[in-house]
Amino acid sequence: MRFETPRLILRPWEDSDRVDFAAINADPEVRRYYHPSLLSFAETSAVIDDAIAALAECGFGFVAVERKADGALVGGGGLSRPGPEVPGDHPAEIGWILGRAFWRQGYATEIGQACLGAAWSRFGLPEVIGYTSAINLPSRRAMERLGLAHVRDSDFEDVTVPPGDELRPHVLYRIARPGL
Ligand SMILES: CC(C)(COP(=O)(O)OP(=O)(O)OC[C@H]1O[C@@H](n2cnc3c(N)ncnc32)[C@H](O)[C@@H]1OP(=O)(O)O)[C@@H](O)C(=O)NCCC(=O)NCCS
Repeated sequence: MRFETPRLILRPWEDSDRVDFAAINADPEVRRYYHPSLLSFAETSAVIDDAIAALAECGFGFVAVERKADGALVGGGGLSRPGPEVPGDHPAEIGWILGRAFWRQGYATEIGQACLGAAWSRFGLPEVIGYTSAINLPSRRAMERLGLAHVRDSDFEDVTVPPGDELRPHVLYRIARPGL
């Protein structure tokens, strides 16, 4: 999966991204709504390895996002198969982890629009979901901006987060392929 948006390139991970993505995943603000929170270099490297394997298996994936203007690694984003903790049978989820320096410049929207376009026209998917902890308002807003709708009766407890943790209640958003 490789494509360009006006300001960004979405492309497979390269070894040189590992250090930069590890720095993003070592930022407490970036990882504020994640359990586990901060990731070590080895943990980020494992995330990249998993994403490379998933891309090879499904054709779409969570890929590197590079800024055209200066080649900076903005973060990771894309489409991937939902984890087993997500109830229901959904073909793909959309997600992003962007470095703090790149927030609030419309990059998540730009990535999301490109991914949804590819989901419908290139991958022929019938729907795309997104999910996050209920208190992750930036992520929720990014999904709403892209046209995903909150499916209240699909909200769930993420069983990978300990009971009682404020990150455990999750919201699920969905968008169907236009015309379906
Ligand atoms: C969530 C995240 C991807 C948003 O990326 P972004 O590039 O800043 O988002 P955009 O600039 O495209 O903005 C999309 C919408 O979200 C809103 N938004 C972005 N950050 C926000 C914030 N901190 N608080 C409230 N709204 C926010 C924007 O205002 C915009 O909505 P609007 O058009 O109605 O104003 C980014 O903050 C991030 O990577 N966070 C850390 C990782 C994470 O939580 N990922 C999601 C996990 S599911």
